[in-house]
Amino acid sequence: MSFNKIKIYDSTNLSKELLNIFLFEYVPNINTAEIVISNKHEETSKTYILLKNEQLNLIENNHNLFVCEFSSENFQIILLKLLSKIFGEKPFELLYLLEDKRKEVAEFIKNLIVLFEVEDKRNSMSHTQRVAFYSKKFAEYLKWSEDKIKLIYDLAMLHDVGRIGIEQLMLFSKTRVYDLEEWDLEHTVAGSIFLANRKELWYAMDVVRSHHEYWDGTGYPDHLKGDEIPYMARFIGIIDWFDWATHTATSEHFGILTPEESIEYVEFNLGKKFDPILGKEFINFIKDYLSKEKFV
Ligand SMILES: [Fe+2]
Ligand SMILES: [Fe+2]
Repeated sequence: MSFNKIKIYDSTNLSKELLNIFLFEYVPNINTAEIVISNKHEETSKTYILLKNEQLNLIENNHNLFVCEFSSENFQIILLKLLSKIFGEKPFELLYLLEDKRKEVAEFIKNLIVLFEVEDKRNSMSHTQRVAFYSKKFAEYLKWSEDKIKLIYDLAMLHDVGRIGIEQLMLFSKTRVYDLEEWDLEHTVAGSIFLANRKELWYAMDVVRSHHEYWDGTGYPDHLKGDEIPYMARFIGIIDWFDWATHTATSEHFGILTPEESIEYVEFNLGKKFDPILGKEFINFIKDYLSKEKFV
């Protein structure tokens, strides 16, 4: 097996910025990469990391200093632990930087999505904002942890990222509305291709690609069935459908439904379009919500 040699030198000692770039940009394939990190220009005194066969070896002057397996743990975390052994505690500061970068990119994209969407005058919210709003409420109802609630809110905000491109295309189309519906299925694929280029947003890939899959395999784009569909995509898929039915459905389908009619539809489609367990929980949640709070 040939190894992809990556050498990174930092004459000023390993800086945060350099590590940041390194972690995101210089590890194309963790199974075939030999990464050299050194604070000196001379290769002879290098310390390097060899990644092979799911093992991570820290090597200095041809002696193995440290070997660990990384198959089960997050690769970046292992690397950070390892680097902190060499450079003291510094790399752990990087965790915050990485998280900051991820948040920054996600925030920017979320702002763009809201900017491109049509706002509903009654509640000043766009489709994405409403899906994120109900996802958070549903997760709270299920008593998820605070971190998981934040995550589902984020994923919901990003779920239709692929629409940005499609809606822009439609600006130049004579039959805009019709084309938009025709093209709708492409937005899951367009979104996942877009995310493929943004490592900071890879965590949202499953939801972006699979939120229009149906439990019985009749959804799109990959016709996944049952629990082949990632859980978070099933979760957001139900809320996404509910929002579409109550706010944006057109007469070509069946027109806008009331929340009560939409609940009946979800109930009828448990085990057909929707995850039977999650769908039932959603029905319990939305009934409880509607009995106490205003429908948005
Ligand atoms: Fe969608
Ligand atoms: Fe959506």
